Amino acid sequence: MPNTSDAVAIIAALPQEISALLGRLRAAEHARAHLRGGREYLVIERGSRRLVVTLARVGKVAAATTATALIHQFDVGAIVFAGVAGGLAASVGVGDVVVADALRQHDMDASPLFPRFEVPLLGRADFATDVGLSDALADAAQRFLADQATTGADVVPNGRDGRRGGQLHRGLVLSGDRFVADDAARRALLAGSPGALAVEMEGAAVAQVCHEYGVRCAVMRTISDSADASAAEGFTHFLAERASVVSSAILARFLSTTYGLVTPPDEIG
Ligand code: ADE
Repeated sequence: MPNTSDAVAIIAALPQEISALLGRLRAAEHARAHLRGGREYLVIERGSRRLVVTLARVGKVAAATTATALIHQFDVGAIVFAGVAGGLAASVGVGDVVVADALRQHDMDASPLFPRFEVPLLGRADFATDVGLSDALADAAQRFLADQATTGADVVPNGRDGRRGGQLHRGLVLSGDRFVADDAARRALLAGSPGALAVEMEGAAVAQVCHEYGVRCAVMRTISDSADASAAEGFTHFLAERASVVSSAILARFLSTTYGLVTPPDEIG
């Protein structure tokens, strides 16, 4: 049964991924922090609108636990996961933004009992995101990327082909409990899931929980690295320099357009 709560949650894995947005929200007049399971859930209420923001930490268990707490204890009807990812497809470069249409756990393999990637007893490998939420996020991302292009803001050059980042992509995102940091591993992921755009460590777990509870879900990722031998260096640099600026600005636009929440986007991004 679909969940009809109109409260929305934002999750990131690491503080550096949304620190600008978190800083703004912590200072908001009606923000209240709740501690559960070692995580802080920041609740902001404005009129009938409610926003919950939290940090899941890294990996599928952390993400699924956090999503479940948001649904059970904070009664949210929509969850947006934001952060960074490694680019898989050749067309997806550092500084690009990917909005997931569907997510798959690349490390789920109960074959020969079930087809590779299929989550046993759920009868599916891929978990679709909510179209309306994803369209709204993609629209916010497109507006941010267009502003960034016109202002000539610092855009990180793409590791694989040297072009500048700033493209928006929609499609399949892979998740698994592994930081992908060599080209053979990147190619193996693509061979198993042709057309996959990016790889990260949480999104498919959140999408599975949302599917099971009838909660709307969307996942937005900025590409921090190319999931190859330079991934650790690229990830560390992007996380320190750029991740929060991009995610916070896109989320602020999204929240203000879709939910009438948060400060004007230009104050953040
Ligand atoms: N998140 C960001 N970069 C990643 C990578 N290369 N592998 C897994 N998760 C990531």
